[in-house]
Formats: sequence, structure tokens, C-alpha cells
Amino acid sequence: MRNGLYSAGITITGSGSATPSGRLSNEDLTQMVETSDEWITTRTGIKQRCVAAPGESLVDIGTQASQSALEMANVHPEQLDLVILATSTPDDLFGSAVSIQTALGAKKAVAFDLTAACSGFLFGLVNAAQFIRTGMYQKILLVGADLLSRWVDWSDRSTCILFGDGAGAVVIEATDPQRDALLGFELCSDGQLSHTLTLSHQGDSRTLLDSVQVSQGNYQPIHMKGKEVYRFAVEKVPEVISKALFHAELTSQQVDWLLLHQANQRIMDAVAQRLNLPQESVISNLASYGNTSAASIPLALDEAMRASQLNAGEIIAISGFGAGLTWGAAIVQWQIV
Ligand code: UT7
Repeated sequence: MRNGLYSAGITITGSGSATPSGRLSNEDLTQMVETSDEWITTRTGIKQRCVAAPGESLVDIGTQASQSALEMANVHPEQLDLVILATSTPDDLFGSAVSIQTALGAKKAVAFDLTAACSGFLFGLVNAAQFIRTGMYQKILLVGADLLSRWVDWSDRSTCILFGDGAGAVVIEATDPQRDALLGFELCSDGQLSHTLTLSHQGDSRTLLDSVQVSQGNYQPIHMKGKEVYRFAVEKVPEVISKALFHAELTSQQVDWLLLHQANQRIMDAVAQRLNLPQESVISNLASYGNTSAASIPLALDEAMRASQLNAGEIIAISGFGAGLTWGAAIVQWQIV
């Protein structure tokens, strides 16, 4: 009896999302690099993406998404025990979760950032569940937000066409262990493949004293070996979903919705095919937002939820994958009516 082990189960009671105001279409990109709408559409499924203007911050859109999620859940910010911000692009490298906590007025909550690139939301969901299952916390806000436009090399056509900015958030609350929405999960990482997708720091040596040098520099733009990451995703994502389904004591035939990190429509379709799931089960909003990293899953979840696409009792197989490399899956039983 899986649920007999825990003092509480989790339930998702609200979702929200927000994007910055700038829009960049495939046509716009043809003015910047040698590409075409046809190439981007057929290779990725992306049509446009949102980009943050200099005055717009990660904390702004993260807070906006959080407010919508709290409103839907009917939870007051002061009731929150924990705020987790999954991001690789904080406004402040020391962490931006605390700024969202302050902007919301979540005075009682502890807040921290979690970095797992495009798997960040999925890893955050499983993290949040642990705090709830042990009985430590009752109400958690999980935000997935990234502003990758800050770190894209806008002259590199192999990456600049892919990424966009956005934020999504969910409120996760404690419930009866028998009603636990998280039916199974599996998390993985393999640092040996980290070179295939990087946003790494590079510094020059600076001498402070004769015997003491430090490195000073900056983060370099996103670098990706696209084909290798593509192959990794198509192989590992179906595998990790199958493992999570095994933990949930379910088969892929019982999955109603496939909610994957929105990186490439071809990846999503290939994963559905390998799991023998119909194309209609794939939740996708990639065409409108591109790859928004940690925001992509909660952004797609929020849109599907607000479009009344999801029904109570349905099984959603969620999977995140990306830099690290990291990947994972969670099997969730939807409960919002
Ligand atoms: O969020 C983290 C997870 N990330 C991912 O999952 C991304 C995984 N990778 C991918 O989605 C795909 O590999 C890409 C969409 C990035 C690239 O698609 P591809 O089918 O693997 O293309 P490719 O890199 O093999 O490039 C094919 C050709 C090359 O030309 P040649 O060498 O065949 O002459 C590229 O130079 O397409 C060229 N190319 C482009 N052409 C027009 C690359 N980028 C572009 C472009 N427009 N934007």
C-alpha cells in the first residue's frame, strides 16, 4: 500500500501563468539570422515566442503567475509554508524565490530556488511532495520561470529560434494520503552529458596577491548540441515515463494526457508514438511560446486547465528533460473539477 507510508498526500489546487509583453515570430527571426518560417515550423513546431523587455523581470512574471494560481486555489499568500522557484535564470544569482515571496506577501513561507534547467518544474513538484508527505508543510507554491532570452546568442540560428520567456505556477496542498495526486515518479541525471547543453561561466584569471588568483568573468550564451539532446530525449523520456508508470502501478494505456517539456513538437510526437498513445493526448502550446525551460510544463498545464481540457480523475504523465542532463517523470491524477 504505497499511500500507507505517508502522513499526507498532495493535491494541486490552483494554477497560473504569465508571459512578458514582447512577441517574436518566426518571420521576425528571418530578419536576424538566416532561417525561414518553414524550417522552424517543420523542425520544431514553434511559430512565435515571448521575450522580456529590459524593464521586465523574472520576479515580475513569476509573481503574476503565482497570484493567478493562489487566486484559483483560494489560498492567501500568508497561508503558504514554502515557495519553490524552479529557474536557471534568476534575476539574482543568490536566488529570486525570496523576491517572489516578498512581492506576494507570503510572510510565513520559506523560499528557495531550485536549479534543474528544463526539468526544474518536475523536480520541484517531487520536492514539494516530499515536504507534504512527511507532514512538514501543508501549502506550497511551486513556480517554474525562465527568461532564456537573456542568455541566447541571437546570432546563433541553431538555438535562437527555440527559446522563449515565461512563468507558470501551481499551488500544492496536503490532502488525505488516499487521495494523493502523485501516483508515481522517477528522477534521473547524468553529468557525463552536461557538455551537450550549457550556459556556463567563463572567467579570466585575476591576480589579487602574488600567491592568490581568482577567476572573474561572465556566463556564456546557451550552447547546445541539438541532435544529441534530441536523441537523448526521444530515448530517455518514454523510458522514464514507463518507470514512473510502473511505480504508479499503471500502464501507458491508462494515461489520458501526455504533458512534456515543450522543447520540440517532433520530440513530443515521437514520445507519444513510443508509448502507443494517440496524438490527441499530447498537450502542446509550443507553437505560441517556444521552449520556456522550467516554465514550459506549468504554462501548458495552466492553459489546458483554463481551457477545460482536463477532467477530474484523469491521469497525466508529466515529463521534464534538459540540461544537466536531467530528466524525470511524474504520474499525476488530476483533481480540480
Ligand atoms: O530544452 C532542452 C531540451 N532541448 C531539446 O530538446 C532540443 C533538442 N534538439 C532539437 O530539437 C533539434 O535538434 C533542433 C530543432 C535544435 C535542430 O533540428 P535538427 O533536425 O536536429 O537540425 P540540425 O541541427 O541537424 O540541422 C540541420 C540543418 C543544418 O544544415 P546542414 O549542415 O544540413 O547543411 C543546419 O545548419 O539545418 C541547419 N539549420 C538551420 N537552417 C535554417 C540549423 N538551424 C537552422 C535554422 N534555420 N534556424
